[in-house]
Amino acid sequence: MKNVLVIGASGQIGSELVLALRNKLGSNHVVAADIRFPLDKELAEGGPSCKIDATQAQEIADAVKKYHIDTIYNLVAILSATAEANPMLGWNIGMGSVLNCLEVAREFKTALSTPSSIGAFGPDTPPDNTPQDTIQRPKTIYGVSKVAGELLSDYYFKRFGVDTRSVRYPGLISNKTLPGGGTTDYAVEIYYAAVKGEKFICPLQKGTFMDMMYMPDAIDAAIDLMEVDPARLIHRNSFNVTAMSFDPEIIYNEIKKHYPNFVMEYDINPLKQSIANTWPNSMDDTCARQEWGWNPKYNLTSMTEDMIKELKKKL
Ligand code: SER
Repeated sequence: MKNVLVIGASGQIGSELVLALRNKLGSNHVVAADIRFPLDKELAEGGPSCKIDATQAQEIADAVKKYHIDTIYNLVAILSATAEANPMLGWNIGMGSVLNCLEVAREFKTALSTPSSIGAFGPDTPPDNTPQDTIQRPKTIYGVSKVAGELLSDYYFKRFGVDTRSVRYPGLISNKTLPGGGTTDYAVEIYYAAVKGEKFICPLQKGTFMDMMYMPDAIDAAIDLMEVDPARLIHRNSFNVTAMSFDPEIIYNEIKKHYPNFVMEYDINPLKQSIANTWPNSMDDTCARQEWGWNPKYNLTSMTEDMIKELKKKL
């Protein structure tokens, strides 16, 4: 990676990935792009930026040419619950961005990473210790577009030699930019409520286990996979990666160690609950560990300490 284009730079992952890549490669080598333009001050002043609507292939191609891009991160997506409320929007944004990025990557010979998700699994998938290679019959439009993205990315690698690689992210917990419309968002929002001294209304039932990860590990995963010697890779799109698995009670009790008076009540969101019920309880990420050295640094305890410390500064 010498010159990187991050599309969806203002989102939950992008806003942190751009900063990490600029630290690593130098600020002029990382172009931050988003449909919402201009970007916020930190991204706009820290290096090059441009407006890209990822459903317009020409806009991606123009940026790749202008900045001599060799690696694209396509972080464009409508998260699961929002996409379910507007399936055509979810499909058009999710698939439009991945197809356009693949075509541009083929034409300009760039590498490409389009993250997949735990949403690429469904109710027929083994829910515990979910294998790398298993049944993928998701029931959400988000999941359908993620599986299609995985398949297309592998197709472009095999058919055209495009260097596509990606991970299946679990729920991502971070303190810089909020996610929006995801089924796993509760695991971010619960920290904001605790630090603000508010009661937390949990939209998912007790006993709903899902994989989760703290953003610094998610950023390492994004960068490390793109840097590994491709000769080591047996898989490409996409690798199971996880750092922890918990249900609402477990994260609530961890936060209570810091805020003993913190109150959580349940008010189940039927849509989010029905989506969460079809996703794995915990994934097996052995292939990522073996093929490119995946090894997360944060568990629930250390993530909770850091989230609270950072949110106290912010709020
Ligand atoms: N965090 C995403 C969501 O909940 C899953 O990839 O939609």
